[in-house]
Amino acid sequence: MRILITGGAGFIGSNFVHYTLEKYPEDRIIVLDALTYAGNLENFNKHTWSNPNFQFFHGNIIDEDLVNELMRNVDTVVHFAAETHVDRSIREAGAFLETDIWGTYILLEAAKQNGIKRFVHISTDEVYGEAEGRPSVEGDDLKPKSPYAASKAGADRLAWSYWATYGLPVAISRCSNNYGPFQYPEKLIPLFVTNAIEEKPLPVYGHGKNTRDWIFVQDHCSGIDALLRSEDGKVNGEVFNISSENELSVLDITEIILATLKKPKSLINHVEDRPGHVTRHAVNPGKIRKALGWEPGYGFEENIAKTIDWYKANEDWWRNLKEKQAEYQEWIKTQYGDHS
Ligand code: NAD
Ligand code: DAU
Repeated sequence: MRILITGGAGFIGSNFVHYTLEKYPEDRIIVLDALTYAGNLENFNKHTWSNPNFQFFHGNIIDEDLVNELMRNVDTVVHFAAETHVDRSIREAGAFLETDIWGTYILLEAAKQNGIKRFVHISTDEVYGEAEGRPSVEGDDLKPKSPYAASKAGADRLAWSYWATYGLPVAISRCSNNYGPFQYPEKLIPLFVTNAIEEKPLPVYGHGKNTRDWIFVQDHCSGIDALLRSEDGKVNGEVFNISSENELSVLDITEIILATLKKPKSLINHVEDRPGHVTRHAVNPGKIRKALGWEPGYGFEENIAKTIDWYKANEDWWRNLKEKQAEYQEWIKTQYGDHS
């Protein structure tokens, strides 16, 4: 396979690059990434850089000419590139509309023109909004609550419309909250793990009882892999939830991190709540299990411990962001002010 991976220098994208190069050494990968504050060339090690089947292009998915040129050299696309942080979308939504919706449109058009054989669109469980009463299923209404989630819902439906209208072979994943190595330290788990290591306060929004459905990033990668490689009739035009059915509250996660790192609970700092804060995100993965035989391979307890160990062992990786990246420092000051 020759795969164009957009957003491949981000958290999930880079894990997916590693996953694919290891599992399918014959495949050719082209990464297109704009290297926003969240994209990081240090997510690839020297083995990846020297792999002849790996190519990196620094560029934006809204650059039509570049996208068309790259698309001519691949047969499949996995589209991760997006603005992804809910809190940032609450402060400034424009970049989310531009990348997540317009950028997806540019890619879909190029995919249509270049006869792409499978376009895996990485959507998110955020598109459902609140999971009321039970985990969301694929046929549920989309009631996104943040500008990020609404942009992703637009992109998700736009991708599906290219299947319905033009027959473009699109498959869509809606995964729950990922955790693992290489996650930018603005999201809950890497922010709290690294703050705890530094003995800085852990800023819990509001009461901290909001729950999320946590999945190890490798399990998301194996689900995407199934969407990429399953036969046409099983996945084209279909949406699949991906989850390892592991719901925990923000306070649960915070306490696990503190206990694992042997840090005091006094580091917990309740701060002002996120506007429009979703009380519960959770999705039912029954469809992908039944249709594609996908199963999560990783339990939470073991993998949160492994993830914490990874941040302990890779201090240079996150300190380069927290201590040297101006965008990071500016964000923390804007978002947390005196609580940072
Ligand atoms: P991330 O923020 O870590 O990485 C995003 C990547 O996209 C970065 O490398 C960035 O440089 C790149 N990018 C941003 N704008 C771009 C543009 N205009 N052109 C090219 N590249 C651009 O994000 P992530 O957490 O790895 O999420 C990846 C995808 O998975 C997103 O589509 C997100 O909505 C989705 N998703 C994330 C989660 C999660 O828990 N993190 C869960 C479900 C779905
Ligand atoms: O559900 C999938 C989504 O998960 C992805 O689509 C998004 O890209 C990803 O960012 C994530 O969204 P969340 O808003 O759930 O993730 P975040 O890590 O920002 O927050 C998780 C929970 O932790 C949420 O209830 C808010 C809370 N939180 C977060 C931060 C950053 C805090 O209490 N304090 C914080 O400082």
